[in-house]
Amino acid sequence: MNTHATKPTLVLGGTGKTGRRVVERLTERGLPVRVGSRSGKPPFDWDDQATWAPALDGVGSVYLTYYPDLALPGAVEATRSFAELAVRSGVARLALLSGRGEPEAERAEQAVRDTGADLTILRSTWFMQNFSEDYMLDHVLSGEIRLPAGEVPTPFLDIDDLADIAVEALTDDRHVGELYELTGPRSLTFAEAAAEIGGAAGREIRYTPVSLEQHAAELADHGVPPEFVDFLTYLFEEVVDGRNADTTDGVRRALGREPRDFGDYARQTAASGVWNASAVSAQGRDDG
Ligand SMILES: NC(=O)c1ccc[n+]([C@@H]2O[C@H](COP(=O)([O-])OP(=O)(O)OC[C@H]3O[C@@H](n4cnc5c(N)ncnc54)[C@H](OP(=O)(O)O)[C@@H]3O)[C@@H](O)[C@H]2O)c1
Repeated sequence: MNTHATKPTLVLGGTGKTGRRVVERLTERGLPVRVGSRSGKPPFDWDDQATWAPALDGVGSVYLTYYPDLALPGAVEATRSFAELAVRSGVARLALLSGRGEPEAERAEQAVRDTGADLTILRSTWFMQNFSEDYMLDHVLSGEIRLPAGEVPTPFLDIDDLADIAVEALTDDRHVGELYELTGPRSLTFAEAAAEIGGAAGREIRYTPVSLEQHAAELADHGVPPEFVDFLTYLFEEVVDGRNADTTDGVRRALGREPRDFGDYARQTAASGVWNASAVSAQGRDDG
């Protein structure tokens, strides 16, 4: 065991999609963990620098995830300032969640590298769990995934794999200095992903490609804030354009096993009930 592992690990976004899984895994290993989010104790807020030092007090390592996205204005500067403060506070090891094919995310990676801390970079493609734990869940429940993603294939990653790698990076010296480019084992178009989800859920789920402008208008109609509309437009225009369609060996390099397949994710998620008809009618009641 490393000396820093006897001190708590601060897991930023520790109630979110990847952070929650990292917290669970560290806790299962009996390692001390602190959740870094606005609901944490003490609270951590990216928008309130006064919360950063108390959250870092006594911490030995950090799972560093920025919210909402490293590609947004101000994210690189905030990540740099936070990482520098972390190192000054005695943090020896960082695992950084980064985004694949995003120049701004690569600037954030360099800013964190510049601190000189032991660093592992997890540069991830789109998460499979965006279909079940994020805004694409509403599309699935409605039976129609309407996105400006054309016919571009994406090698979706299962974030259970990502969380396994984050925990290894935080606890095992052999990952220090590694940059893991992370994808699942297969690239799927959104039409193929919709068909696999529909097959597993036992309902018809179709994909309808829409233009960037139409998507932005539909988001605005649903009350999504303008800066988030701009961000999603950037994402579909710049990141989902085919340049990130290939798969990588990142999961195998990090864990010595193959990444989980979209079909397994779809079957397991369907069995949890999150996509089933009662979830649809419950959502209708909540909306109404
Ligand atoms: N989604 C993807 O496909 C994908 C792919 C590659 C990389 N990424 C990267 O993953 C990172 C996280 O994205 P995500 O979509 O997975 O989100 P997420 O981790 O599910 O986000 C929610 C978490 O952020 C916390 N949070 C929200 N606002 C906060 C604030 N102002 N200060 C501190 N914590 C805050 C929430 O807790 P509280 O509500 O308690 O604050 C919660 O723990 C981003 O940097 C993104 O670039 C995402």
